Amino acid sequence: MQNERKLIIAIDGYASSGKSTLAKSLADSLGYVFIDTGAMYRGVAYFTVVNGLYTNDSIHEEALIKRLDEVHLMFGDPIVGNDRPLLLNGVNINDPIRSSEISALVSLVAVIPEVRTKLVDLQRQMGTNGGIVMDGRDIGSVVFPEAELKLFMTADVEKRAQRRQLELLAKGENVPLEEIKLNLESRDQIDSSRSESPLLKVSDAVEIDTSSLTFSEQVEQIIDLVKKVTFN
Ligand code: C5P
Repeated sequence: MQNERKLIIAIDGYASSGKSTLAKSLADSLGYVFIDTGAMYRGVAYFTVVNGLYTNDSIHEEALIKRLDEVHLMFGDPIVGNDRPLLLNGVNINDPIRSSEISALVSLVAVIPEVRTKLVDLQRQMGTNGGIVMDGRDIGSVVFPEAELKLFMTADVEKRAQRRQLELLAKGENVPLEEIKLNLESRDQIDSSRSESPLLKVSDAVEIDTSSLTFSEQVEQIIDLVKKVTFN
């Protein structure tokens, strides 16, 4: 198509608000690359656990910072559609990073400024040529403040917890709804109140409430926005 620009689409929002599913579907429809930055923070949390840097409920922060050079994260070739596995030093860690253990730890790892600097640099490199849909917490505010389209996704916590419970069940983990709700609320609280790039809705982001729209309505609404921006 003539005059078509390859955009950077930034999607931020609360835990389990459906960002990744939407971002993936959007990237598929547009022929863009999907980048799940939450997976990258989960990757660092996973590195922390497997290297014994999280013991007795505390992160050995100094030791982790010293070893960040050993953390090489990249997305591998797609397995199905736009689903690209996260590789840590060449090993596929897509499944273990979704466990409840990692969900409980990830927000504490994500407050460490050195971790954020490393991952934000990597995310910027991944998006330099445009044609990406990136989801996370600080994409529109910090990673790509110049993104042409910014979305902020919300949904009530009950709906988000149900979504997460189904995802975990599909992986064989049966976790009570109340426990999931507590994890989501705790992550939202840590993510929104940290001093380094907190989760917030920037003024130029369009808010999408996923509890009041069907999935196809969400995709349609965003594709319309993309068309407006692309051909402006
Ligand atoms: O998106 P997901 O829920 O998998 O993200 C896991 C955690 O990673 C978030 O709760 C947040 O603490 C952290 N995160 C972040 N900045 C991002 C993406 C995720 O701090 N851009």
